[in-house]
Amino acid sequence: MNALTPNAPALPAPVGLLAELTHRCPLRCPYCSNPLELDRRSGELDTATWQRVLTEAAGLGVLHVHLSGGEPTARNDIVEITESCAKLGLYSNLITSGVGGALQKLDALYDVGLDHVQLSVQGVDAANAEKIGGLKNAQPQKFAFAERVTQLGLPLTLNSVIHRGNIHEVEGFIDLAVKLGAKRLEVAHTQYYGWAYVNRAALMPNKADVDRSIRIVEAARERLKGQLVIDLVVPDYYAKYPKACAGGWGRKLMNVTPAGKVLPCHAAETIPGLEFWYVADHSLGDIWANSPAFTAYRGTDWMKEPCRSCDRREKDWGGCRCQALALAGDAAATDPACSLSPLHAKVRALATEEAAESPPDYTYRTIGSNVRSPLKEEAPL
Ligand code: SF4
Ligand code: FES
Repeated sequence: MNALTPNAPALPAPVGLLAELTHRCPLRCPYCSNPLELDRRSGELDTATWQRVLTEAAGLGVLHVHLSGGEPTARNDIVEITESCAKLGLYSNLITSGVGGALQKLDALYDVGLDHVQLSVQGVDAANAEKIGGLKNAQPQKFAFAERVTQLGLPLTLNSVIHRGNIHEVEGFIDLAVKLGAKRLEVAHTQYYGWAYVNRAALMPNKADVDRSIRIVEAARERLKGQLVIDLVVPDYYAKYPKACAGGWGRKLMNVTPAGKVLPCHAAETIPGLEFWYVADHSLGDIWANSPAFTAYRGTDWMKEPCRSCDRREKDWGGCRCQALALAGDAAATDPACSLSPLHAKVRALATEEAAESPPDYTYRTIGSNVRSPLKEEAPL
């Protein structure tokens, strides 16, 4: 029995906690999925509150904590927070840009029990990478950071977010991952949330380049079996079926923002009318079971056709609610990334059209900017 519905099957525990420790970041990537209104340092949770949240997460059955942001090493207490994960038996994954003070803190993080590092790389060619990340001299810092990660014997994953500005470098990302001693590479086509949604026309690749990138990854997977695992995230707008976003709404993941607001996925705040609870007011367990935001799209009862009668409904859980809202204007609609959605052809056409035009300049991610969300306008389809 769970707290939502008597006689309903027990609610499974969340597997992962995405701890967005801060929105501060030395990079300014235009593909960032963080919200346009970034939290300021003054509103960030303090160390003791994060430690309490981690203790509650462990009690709830969470296994993995992704220490993220922004740049998580921008926090002065990143070592204490990581140590708490280790003491609680939580597997810790540092999601980092590897720049700023990251290298200076790495040995201390290792000493307190950090389990894994995921390092972002914006490009292979340094000038291209630094243009995308909006920070000069970032590439050598990243390489030095990666070298120290592998010297320490920590498992390293490289994360490359792919878009029209670097899709010609997919082969190079694979070579780079091998050269830096990574065990895993994520070739993740951009997902259009937050800043990436604003920059969609600047980032959208064409279908031929996407197909080519997929062929390169498939060939490399064969060639590098046993040496490098390559995860491929295909671009939604060109997909046949949508991804099970966040593993299904309210099923696997809790996302805590720097200010302590708890979300079912990183873009949930874009959905109007959802009520989010804060860690200051509720325990994580209470939020998981009872927060209106978590219960809104959990399971399948909320679905409309064609999802409602589709045999994939418990595989992809209808795709992404935030994307349904962004593109169809209705968070309960079938994700238009799905080929069974009546809007799918329009999504394809929109992507094809944007990819064919010359790209506009990037709108870089900035705290305190006055960039307006296009979601406040009408849904485009
Ligand atoms: Fe998934 Fe819904 Fe598409 Fe079926 S119709 S594949 S459940 S998004
Ligand atoms: Fe919110 Fe996909 S990002 S459900």
